[in-house]
Amino acid sequence: MMHDFVVNAPTQESSQAGKKLVVEGKAAAIILAGGHGSRLGHNAPKGCFEVFEDISIYQLIAKKVPKGLLIAFMTSDATHAKTVEHFEKANYFGLQKEHVFFFQQQNLPLQNEEGTLLPLSAPDGNGALFWHFSASGILKDWEAKGIEQITVSTVDNVLADPFQPDLIGINALHNNDVSVVAIEREDPREHVGMIVSQNGKLAVQEYSEMADSERLAYAADGGLKHPLANISYFAFSMPFIKKITNLSPAILPLHRAKKKVGDDYFYKSEYFIFDLLAYADKAEVLKLSRKEYFQPFKSMSDLESVRRALKK
Ligand code: UD1
Repeated sequence: MMHDFVVNAPTQESSQAGKKLVVEGKAAAIILAGGHGSRLGHNAPKGCFEVFEDISIYQLIAKKVPKGLLIAFMTSDATHAKTVEHFEKANYFGLQKEHVFFFQQQNLPLQNEEGTLLPLSAPDGNGALFWHFSASGILKDWEAKGIEQITVSTVDNVLADPFQPDLIGINALHNNDVSVVAIEREDPREHVGMIVSQNGKLAVQEYSEMADSERLAYAADGGLKHPLANISYFAFSMPFIKKITNLSPAILPLHRAKKKVGDDYFYKSEYFIFDLLAYADKAEVLKLSRKEYFQPFKSMSDLESVRRALKK
């Protein structure tokens, strides 16, 4: 399958380059954990959910942080207090407290069907993360600590490795602003963003916004027309993060989605992380194995698959 963007596979070189940056303490990670997680129906942040007896998702993530490395969690009104309390109670799962950071995203007002702003609000999506990260002071702190590469992954992908060496390595070796992890799409109806080329640039189009005629389309070779899925798993270079945080978050489009609250329908506005790609001078894809790197935990019906994937 031909693409008009670069698709990399892991190599020994990328893995070694990434491991070197990890050992040197030049890589750090952000976990997106500000979503409401409403599909799970769990009355606490998703990260606090215990997938096995006494083992929460936050604990699984903490165990993947190499000694001495830095990790930050983006939380929201909906998840902040309980997330911090969870780490405090567990003594940071063996990590040093000064290596674990939390910063809060903002809320945006909901609108009714006529577009009138309501006195209700919801998290602003995962796309404005670096502005919140910068406002919290952590960006400056990490820069001073010599961080060069920052990965971003979601709290609900239990197989994501925040310090995946090829992802860090490719972004550094290729001087990319952003490297986007992609996996092979399987079920064409799966709720994943599609990796596409837009105005000659690598981009993602969300499942909720792509017409079925495109999303479900097949190419002449029998494969899906858009064979690669975004799983919101990236590496960003420090200079790129600094560049975009010097601009206003208003450079990003707001995506509107209809939500049901009680008996009423409202519109929620969100920034999407992959819209940052439009501002990258150099962005590439790293294709990883779905089996090894993607098992989302969106609703309770995923629990068995999540447990199976983690037992492998
Ligand atoms: C997301 C991706 C989609 C991808 C899919 C894979 C985005 C915009 N879409 O869709 O392309 O294929 O995951 O599973 O990322 N979050 C926040 N703050 C918010 C909203 C979300 O931190 O205001 C976090 C969530 O906690 C979660 C992640 O972002 O960790 C993804 O959010 P979610 O709403 O689950 O996205 P999906 O619709 O599943």
